[in-house]
Amino acid sequence: MQSNSTPVVRRISFDYSNIDVSAWHPRLPEFACGANAISILMPHAEPYVIRAVRSAARQSDDRDLRHNVDIWAGQEAAHFRAHRNFNEQLLAQSRVARLLDRVGRRIFGWLGSRSPAFGAAFAAAFEIVAFASARWTEERLTDLMAGADDEAASLYLWHLAEEIEHKGVAHDVMVATEGSRRFYPLGTLTAFVFLIGFTLFGGLALFVSSRHVFNPIRWMRLIGWGFSLAWVLLPLLASSLTRDFHPESLVDPPWMAQWLMEFDPVTNTLPVWTQAGMGLGRTSAPPLAA
Ligand SMILES: [Fe+2]
Ligand SMILES: [Fe+2]
Repeated sequence: MQSNSTPVVRRISFDYSNIDVSAWHPRLPEFACGANAISILMPHAEPYVIRAVRSAARQSDDRDLRHNVDIWAGQEAAHFRAHRNFNEQLLAQSRVARLLDRVGRRIFGWLGSRSPAFGAAFAAAFEIVAFASARWTEERLTDLMAGADDEAASLYLWHLAEEIEHKGVAHDVMVATEGSRRFYPLGTLTAFVFLIGFTLFGGLALFVSSRHVFNPIRWMRLIGWGFSLAWVLLPLLASSLTRDFHPESLVDPPWMAQWLMEFDPVTNTLPVWTQAGMGLGRTSAPPLAA
């Protein structure tokens, strides 16, 4: 099923003042560690892909493409700003989180010195990894998110939902950018190594520094998630390497798209994920500054 919602920039704010962001998921702290590693990376990764795609799109005179890139970039910017807010408390609390933040800055500082053609290819692969992560999460939504803080879980789910919504834009830019497509295999490998590697090692570093590290059941869960994510991600990445592939051919998981349709543009809020379709509690206002 494809998304019915029209992509728009949703500058949603979240309120973490009542929670410890390193422990937003008391039932599955090991899941929170992996998610928090991703959150630490986003304020470095997403500005890089925004710059790469914007600079590639400037070469195109396709007005529709440039319009889609504007919406896409607005969504990505809202994502990394929301993660940066979330990370503030995390970085203040944890030496490991600060170390990971420095590693993320180094990685994307280095990638920033690569060519624009490579950058567009990397961004297209980055979006496939994001789509696969969203599909993996939705397939086990309740298993992963039940018992978590609603506001923090809604941050991650909103981000993933918009990754589904705008899954094809970076790919379109890559195709429209001369010389970019030949970098796609290298961009795919680089995106896989850095995104999955960072999530794996960063998540493990955060987990090892937590008091839950000696629980074998939590380790078993981590291993199971690793294999199940690989099961979703690797075939998607492999199919994306074929010549005729386009992300719009991928089937969207349905719940996230439905949830986004409940966005209120007046208050810039979504229902917290547990209240989707019920008209009850919403993500906190006021909205982020533009
Ligand atoms: Fe994003
Ligand atoms: Fe994205």
